[in-house]
Amino acid sequence: MTALAKIEAPSREDRQNRGLLTLDQSLALDSESAMGLYAAHLNKYMLQVFDILGLAQMDIESAQGAEITLRDGRRILDYSGGFGVLGLGHNHPRIIAAERRCHDLKVLDCIKIAPHKLQGALAYNISRFLPEPLDVSFLAVSGTEANEAAMKICERVQTPKGKTKFLCFKGAFHGKTHGPLSLTTATDVQSGFIMGVPKENVVFATYGDIASVREAIAREKADIGKSGSGNRIIAGIIETIRGTSCHVPDPGFLTEFAQVCRENDILTIFDEVKVGMGRTGKFCAFQHEDVVPDVVTLAKTLGGGKRELGAMVTSQALFDKAYGNKNDCNLHSSSFSGMGETCAVGIETLNVLEDERLIERAARMGEYLRAGLERLREKYPRKIVSLRGKGCFQAIELNFGQQLAEKAIDIRKNPLFVTYETVLIGAMARELYERHGILVHFQPGARDLLHFMPPYIVSEAQIDALVDALDDVLGRGVADATVRFVVKNIKRVLG
Ligand SMILES: Cc1ncc(COP(=O)(O)O)c(C=O)c1O
Repeated sequence: MTALAKIEAPSREDRQNRGLLTLDQSLALDSESAMGLYAAHLNKYMLQVFDILGLAQMDIESAQGAEITLRDGRRILDYSGGFGVLGLGHNHPRIIAAERRCHDLKVLDCIKIAPHKLQGALAYNISRFLPEPLDVSFLAVSGTEANEAAMKICERVQTPKGKTKFLCFKGAFHGKTHGPLSLTTATDVQSGFIMGVPKENVVFATYGDIASVREAIAREKADIGKSGSGNRIIAGIIETIRGTSCHVPDPGFLTEFAQVCRENDILTIFDEVKVGMGRTGKFCAFQHEDVVPDVVTLAKTLGGGKRELGAMVTSQALFDKAYGNKNDCNLHSSSFSGMGETCAVGIETLNVLEDERLIERAARMGEYLRAGLERLREKYPRKIVSLRGKGCFQAIELNFGQQLAEKAIDIRKNPLFVTYETVLIGAMARELYERHGILVHFQPGARDLLHFMPPYIVSEAQIDALVDALDDVLGRGVADATVRFVVKNIKRVLG
């Protein structure tokens, strides 16, 4: 019987007696009981997804650096990077020490009626990594909330001019709360929801194509008539490298994008939630170019892998225009905007990046990884179509026959093809995990790409282990992986 079949809802008696789990009991839960609780009280369908990928039964003892240790002693190399959260790796000793220090000092975490010194210090540190005039932060607890803050500050400045629309890119990912969700089409996450920004107020362009940006703006110009501001677009938001498709724009594209927006009184928001904080070999990916946006958003690695922390960073001038008086200064706020210990972790994370030269290391290790993937591409030219990414964000595009299928059907919308691709990519990920103890991930919006997001502290030997594992799995063939995957999942379904 699989663990999923064991799930039972708590009885009425259990509920009345409360019978709370203590922290000791919670930490000691075996994986089967933990899964039961997850299914009954969180999301049993998500658990099924983990189960299909062979991950539901991961009985994790601890995690350190690039490795996760299971209770049976197995060590797993984590190339999922927590989808970008783990730039410093798991449980970086300095981050743990920073938390301990805060505990010893009984640092005040929550204060809403007075300024907190750690908030100011964190915002100062963030500004040190960014070009002028990006000096003023709003602290958030996730990437999507950083983007909410970014959208709102731009709205405050631009709506008095009659502007009502956002420019974004087809296939973008900016988060799942209502505002950023309206601008997110990387995968189908909008169905059944009322958009924060109505559909008619969203203008789309094609990523990496400046002509399409100009055309989108020109369409809005033609549309305008009365407002007098030239076009109705509030701001253009862009992932500086695409998180889903791992598409790196041509050098100069971000600069041109910012310039075209500026010429048309459109503010720019650079979403660095996934690739910022050093992952590409610069603090932010846009810093590979000589360009400065009006607003930049950060999250993920900013929390050092231990805390929920995001930031929207802008200039004093823009902040003043939006919220610059005593009545309006709190128009955008949140109870958890900059808790003390979270800020301490953010401050230490930025110091670790600096002291351990981790941004340079991310560039170096990224090149080493890329070279390994390049060798594989030469060895398997029919299986690996292309390499994507920069620094410690890399992906391989696998050939699952899309090119042939594309000629016959619209594969992105065809449920059969989506299922077929999901099985193949799922099979590859599961093989890497089960045969080689390597965790990788893929995204629903790009089911032909395997993503690799190592922490910047990854070693060459650990990269070699990934490349060897991929070599083995590709050498055996996609068919081999798929058959094992399907057989395991049929067993699962049949119980
Ligand atoms: C580019 C980008 N923006 C925003 C987000 C949303 O961040 P969060 O999941 O912390 O809300 C993500 C998440 O993956 C992302 O990749």
